[in-house]
Amino acid sequence: MIKAISDVNTVKDLIREHPGPLAIVPTMGALHEGHLALLRKARQLVGPTGTVVISIFVNPIQFDRVSDLTNYPQPLKEDLKLCEAEGVDIAFTPEKEALYHPDHSVLLTESLLTRHLCGSSRPGHFDGVLTIVLKLFNVIQPDFAIFGNKDFQQLALIRRMVRDLNVPVEIVGHATVREEGGLALSSRNSRLTREQRQDAPRIRRALMAARDLAVTGEQDPSVYLNAARTHLLGNAPEDFSIDYLQFVDAETLQPITRVTKPAVLATACFYGEVRLIDHIGIRS
Ligand code: PAF
Repeated sequence: MIKAISDVNTVKDLIREHPGPLAIVPTMGALHEGHLALLRKARQLVGPTGTVVISIFVNPIQFDRVSDLTNYPQPLKEDLKLCEAEGVDIAFTPEKEALYHPDHSVLLTESLLTRHLCGSSRPGHFDGVLTIVLKLFNVIQPDFAIFGNKDFQQLALIRRMVRDLNVPVEIVGHATVREEGGLALSSRNSRLTREQRQDAPRIRRALMAARDLAVTGEQDPSVYLNAARTHLLGNAPEDFSIDYLQFVDAETLQPITRVTKPAVLATACFYGEVRLIDHIGIRS
C-alpha cells in the first residue's frame, strides 16, 4: 500500500524504516507512460524488497513563464492511483512551503552545459531543476535516481552535478517513451488541442529526416539544421513556432562546426503557449 507523505521529517523517518536499496523517480506529476516506465526501472533496480519512492512536486522555481506554471496539470489523485498500481512504496508530495523557506537564497548554478538549448532559452530553469533535485537527494538519500532521456540536457546536468559535488547516488537514464506517431510523451501534451496533437509528430519526423542525412557522411551542421527546419515549418499550423533548433556535441553540449563525433540535434517548439522538446542523436 503506497504511503503519500507531504512532510519532510515524516518522509525521512519513514524511509529509515524501509529496507534498502532505495530508488527515487523525481517528477512534477501528471504522470504518463513515460513516468511509469521510470517507476518500473526503479523497481527493477531495487528488487522486490527494495524501496521505490516517487516525488511529485511542481517546482515553482524552475518555471520561466508564469502561465506555464499556472497551467501545469496537477491531477494528484489520479497520479497516486497510478503509483499504487505500479507498486510504488512512498510518494513524497510536498507543498512549496515544506521545501522552500520564505527567504531561501541559495541556488545551484551550472555554468557550462547550460549555455545553449533550454539553458539559454529558459533562463534560470536549470538552476531551479538542479536545486530541487539536490534537495530531493538530500531528503530521500536514494541509491538510484531515474530520469528520462527525453530531457537530455537536464539528465546531463544532473550527472554533472552528481560528479562535481560528489553526491552519493547512481543516476540512471531511461529511453524516451513515444506515442505511436512518434511524439515524445510529456505531461504538457495534455494541454495540446486535438489538432495540435495530431500535428505534433512533425517534430520527431523533422529530426529523423535530418538524421537520415548522416548515412551520406554529411559533416556540415547547417545542412542538418536546414533539413530539420524545412520539415518543422513545412505546412505547419499558424500557432506553431520554433523556439530553438540547435546542433551540439553529445558530451559537451556546445555547438559544433563539423559533424565528426556523436552529436545531438535538439529542438524546442511551441504550439501556442505549449512548449515541447525533443532531440535525436546523430552519429551516436
Ligand atoms: O523532469 C522533471 O519532471 C523535473 O524537471 C524534475 C526533474 C522532477 C525536477 O523538478
